[in-house]
Amino acid sequence: MAEPVKVVVTGAAGQIAYSLIYQIASGAVFGPNQPVYLHLLDIAPMMGVLEGVVMELADCALPLLTGVLPTFKPEEAFKDVVAAFLVGAMPRKEGMERKDLLAANVRIFKEQGQAMDKVARKDVKVLVVGNPANTNALICSKYAPSIPKENFTAMTRLDQNRAQSQLAAKIGVPVQNVKNVIIWGNHSSTQFPDASNAVVTVGNTQKAVPAAINDDSYLNSTFITTVQKRGAAVIAARKMSSALSAAKAASDHMRDWFLGSGDRWVSMGVVSDGSYGTPRDVVFSFPVTTANGKWKIVQGLTISDFARKMLDATGKELAEEKQEALDVCKD
Ligand code: NAI
Repeated sequence: MAEPVKVVVTGAAGQIAYSLIYQIASGAVFGPNQPVYLHLLDIAPMMGVLEGVVMELADCALPLLTGVLPTFKPEEAFKDVVAAFLVGAMPRKEGMERKDLLAANVRIFKEQGQAMDKVARKDVKVLVVGNPANTNALICSKYAPSIPKENFTAMTRLDQNRAQSQLAAKIGVPVQNVKNVIIWGNHSSTQFPDASNAVVTVGNTQKAVPAAINDDSYLNSTFITTVQKRGAAVIAARKMSSALSAAKAASDHMRDWFLGSGDRWVSMGVVSDGSYGTPRDVVFSFPVTTANGKWKIVQGLTISDFARKMLDATGKELAEEKQEALDVCKD
């Protein structure tokens, strides 16, 4: 057996963490031969609830789980971790404006960036799930300057999984037969789910998804809005936001980053280098491939006029969010 790795989950007493922690501890993320030591961070008033989660983890009798550290202190939580799932964030309360939510949350991510800068390994891989995920990841990276900015990512994998599942259902194939659908931009309603480069295996042949569906008006309207609004549809039905699927997506994101994406593209929010005419230095979701613990943006794709408008709109929103967040952090 390998040496255990330390992994932190924040928002550990919340609903996404409730599914995510099990997936990490059971081997679904770091592999069936990699023991893990879990650090669980939440705020002080949630320590009682977190104690219950720790009891349940013990009761799962998981062979790969070598220890658990529940804490409300960021510097304990981030100490020596190889992977950080930053799920904890302030939920939107009634009457709260989007701006207030952004302000409350970027302060959390500023503080966590500072703590990581002090105590985390310099090769820690950080996945931000808590919203606004892209801008939180950017702020976290800014306040952890000793850790490479490539190590900070935001989650758009849930949107990718939703998009892939919609396309597979439309074509009538198993979900794994569809690959290379892309989520561009922000994890928000301006995101651009793009099937133009996706491919599908039908029987023994591989086809372009647009040819298999043969309905551009579906791909340029219903498909996009269904994916953009899927989170709201889940809330309307469940009266709570997506948790099981968000946890699964977080596991997929981190697993592919550590273990490689193989011959599939995956979407990750990463600090933009200006690829595809996007604003530099915002956390923008691109198609990437991963190998040896590193991601690389897929280059050379053709951007249609329609796609250009979509990329520009989501890029503009991210540039605005970044400015708002930087203003908040000055205080
Ligand atoms: P939840 O409200 O059930 O849990 C959040 C937890 O974070 C709570 O236990 C809370 O006490 C904790 N928390 C708050 N401030 C904290 C801090 N400073 N340090 C550590 N923990 C802190 O929320 P849920 O459903 O688990 O969602 C968490 C976040 O994930 C939300 O921001 C949500 O919008 C976001 N989300 C993102 C998705 C994505 O695709 N990127 C998908 C679904 C949700």
